[in-house]
Amino acid sequence: MKVLCFGSLNIDYVYQVPHFAGGGETLAAASLSRFSGGKGLNQSIALARAGLEVRHAGAVGRDGLFLLEELREAGVRTESVEVLEDARTGHAIIQRTPSGENCILLYGGANRRITREQIDRVLSDFGPGDALALQNETSELPYLAERARERGLTVALNPSPMEDGLLPLLPLANYLLLNEIEAAQLLQGLGKPVPEAGEDLAAALALPSTAVVLTLGSQGSLFADGTRLVRQAAVPVRAVDTTAAGDTYTGFFLAGVLSGRSVEWSMKYASSAAAIAVTRPGAAPSIPSRAEVLAEMGD
Ligand code: RIB
Repeated sequence: MKVLCFGSLNIDYVYQVPHFAGGGETLAAASLSRFSGGKGLNQSIALARAGLEVRHAGAVGRDGLFLLEELREAGVRTESVEVLEDARTGHAIIQRTPSGENCILLYGGANRRITREQIDRVLSDFGPGDALALQNETSELPYLAERARERGLTVALNPSPMEDGLLPLLPLANYLLLNEIEAAQLLQGLGKPVPEAGEDLAAALALPSTAVVLTLGSQGSLFADGTRLVRQAAVPVRAVDTTAAGDTYTGFFLAGVLSGRSVEWSMKYASSAAAIAVTRPGAAPSIPSRAEVLAEMGD
């Protein structure tokens, strides 16, 4: 089984701030750091560190070649990443507060230059038994999800950032991995009531063919597939940077279930990985190795 992660590659500029800047406010940052990021890149690295064979597809400009190095160092194949001469690599402006929370502004850049030709070329190497991890930071997502399902791939969708254009993709996803805010936005877009309790939120989104994994931060995570509900507690830690915690959870959860582990084990694997990630600064550099996560789990 091979995993294709077709998604964003970003340069993350992280500004340490006392609080998120408000409208009309000028706020001084205490520091600026640069990290590798992008939900796609982060999830590729998490999938690879969790033990799967991963190929990343996407696009960067010449200024983002170091992101490909970072992927390769993590064991991710990068031959399906296009290097565009006339585009800048995507980037994210991230405000990070003392409690580790973040607020992200995205510039798509090369991530928005994915073409149908690139998608057809990349997907021709994948078929039944393989899996596709998707987020919403690249162009041509509906085309990609439809072609992948036609070719028999298992599709995992992280609908982030959320927008109504994603609604038709929900039935195409075998796994939908999202947080409470995205879940509420999805239900609002579908014109459905938004329940308050996490269990009801997860159950409201599950379809017979789409299992939902809902992350609730310090409240843990939930799995719902229409027949059962599984709850996993979060591992208590002192967070310094929550950036990429969701990406880490997604990569480790998918690595668990795609390699035949139970949902319960995969949720524990994912929660332990995300708990380690939030104790470290940055996106991709914060993602732990499989050995670190197994040690945290006591497995
Ligand atoms: O999920 C975290 C990621 O979101 C960051 O790395 C940033 O690049 C944005 O894509």
